[in-house]
Amino acid sequence: MYYQKLKKFPKNFLWGAASAAYQIEGAWNEDGKGPSIWDTFSKIPGKTFHGTNGDVAVDHYHRYKEDVDLMAKMGLKAYRFSISWSRIIPDGDGEVNQAGIEFYSNLIDELRKNKIEPIITLYHWDIPQASQDKYHGWESREVIEAFKKYCRAVFEAYGSRVRYWVTFNEQNVFTAMGYRWASHPPNVTDIKRMYAANHIVNLANAEAINLFHQMVPNDQIGPSFGYGPAYPITADPKDVLAADNADDFNNNWWLDVYCRGKYPTLVMNHLKNLGVAPTVTFEDTKLLKSAKPDFLGINYYHGGTFQQNQIEHPDKGNQHEKKISKTDPYLMQPKDAQAQTPETPMFDSVQNPYLDKTQWGWEIDPIGFRITLRRVYEKYQLPIMVTENGLGAQDKLEANGVINDQYRIDYLQTHIIEMQRALTDGVDILGYCAWSFTDLLSWLNGYKKRYGFVYINRNDDDQKDLARIPKKSFYWYRDFIRKN
Ligand code: BG6
Repeated sequence: MYYQKLKKFPKNFLWGAASAAYQIEGAWNEDGKGPSIWDTFSKIPGKTFHGTNGDVAVDHYHRYKEDVDLMAKMGLKAYRFSISWSRIIPDGDGEVNQAGIEFYSNLIDELRKNKIEPIITLYHWDIPQASQDKYHGWESREVIEAFKKYCRAVFEAYGSRVRYWVTFNEQNVFTAMGYRWASHPPNVTDIKRMYAANHIVNLANAEAINLFHQMVPNDQIGPSFGYGPAYPITADPKDVLAADNADDFNNNWWLDVYCRGKYPTLVMNHLKNLGVAPTVTFEDTKLLKSAKPDFLGINYYHGGTFQQNQIEHPDKGNQHEKKISKTDPYLMQPKDAQAQTPETPMFDSVQNPYLDKTQWGWEIDPIGFRITLRRVYEKYQLPIMVTENGLGAQDKLEANGVINDQYRIDYLQTHIIEMQRALTDGVDILGYCAWSFTDLLSWLNGYKKRYGFVYINRNDDDQKDLARIPKKSFYWYRDFIRKN
């Protein structure tokens, strides 16, 4: 690569960290909160790692002041968190619960007091169980009104104090996990229902954006997407085509709708031929086109590498090792899963021989981060907020109370440098939220897979004292933010 002097991060760059309500709050049934689909699903035997759930999680609900205090000590400029819909409207579309409004109001005030910019996610996978029961959750158009009611309540309560809002977190992940693989609620394996629900979420996303622009005209809103660049395994045009197909199915299928109000032609045609395409009315298209996000949230963990599909090209033999993981939500084809992916015989997901992996088998690909930022920015021309990026690992609390997570520092550092290269290339980046601030519940991996800058003293079967202990990466990020 030609030599380039790296551009400095802008002064107002939002160096942040992120979390999600179900993964940190606990207090699952306190102060009037209703159950969400995760409160119910995590209690079905065999669904989560060792039966772990978010009943207590890391008890952020009761310890938020201590957590914000640590954020301030770290010098964090932004904190991304999600609101639990069923804390605000316990039964999905009835009365607003004042205690729920108050909790986030206090959290926002605490953040503001410490000069930390709150970034709110409206939906991080936890629809109220009541809305699931009443409307079949995201499968019915009626739920859109309920979602709007919830949005209205929180825009009204916090709109004047919060400048950045995320509509949906990783729609690609929660629809696939929830409706294709049954590894998330609502525990379904039916791709027609998955595409139908996904379309309703698109409509809800558009409605939320339009409502926000009416109610909070000067601030910014956009969805957060779990993006992975698609690489061909070889220069064989058949593999290149396979990677193109994967890109359409895994990325464009959502991003084109968010940013252009239109589904990509190739995938739509394919789904129509299979009889699993969603019903899109003229009014729907009008709505999707009318909603303009102000920025795109990007969650980046890793990309994918693809070869021509072995069923379509049996002559080719199986040269490359297939990718197999039961708990990687970003993998389109987790197991020997042809039966559950009838719409995607156009690519096979394979191992990338050039990349190392995390303890959980996720590829580590910092350059893919730069590729991501450039591709997305060039294509959609929207400012990008990096809403997640981080390393899940089994950290060890040493006898002297130290957590030496140098591997996390290395991971973050190499990714941040690639982000700086993308910035130098010309990508407009608003901020970077590492996943995550404290350790938290990994949806399918319990408390063993840790992401935080702050260690939480608990494990899968013992809540212990939930003490907060800054890791080595905490001090590294603090010093890094100071310098930048
Ligand atoms: C993202 C989610 O998919 O990845 C987070 O937005 C999640 O909620 C994170 O925790 C890491 O995933 P995992 O499965 O390693 O916990």
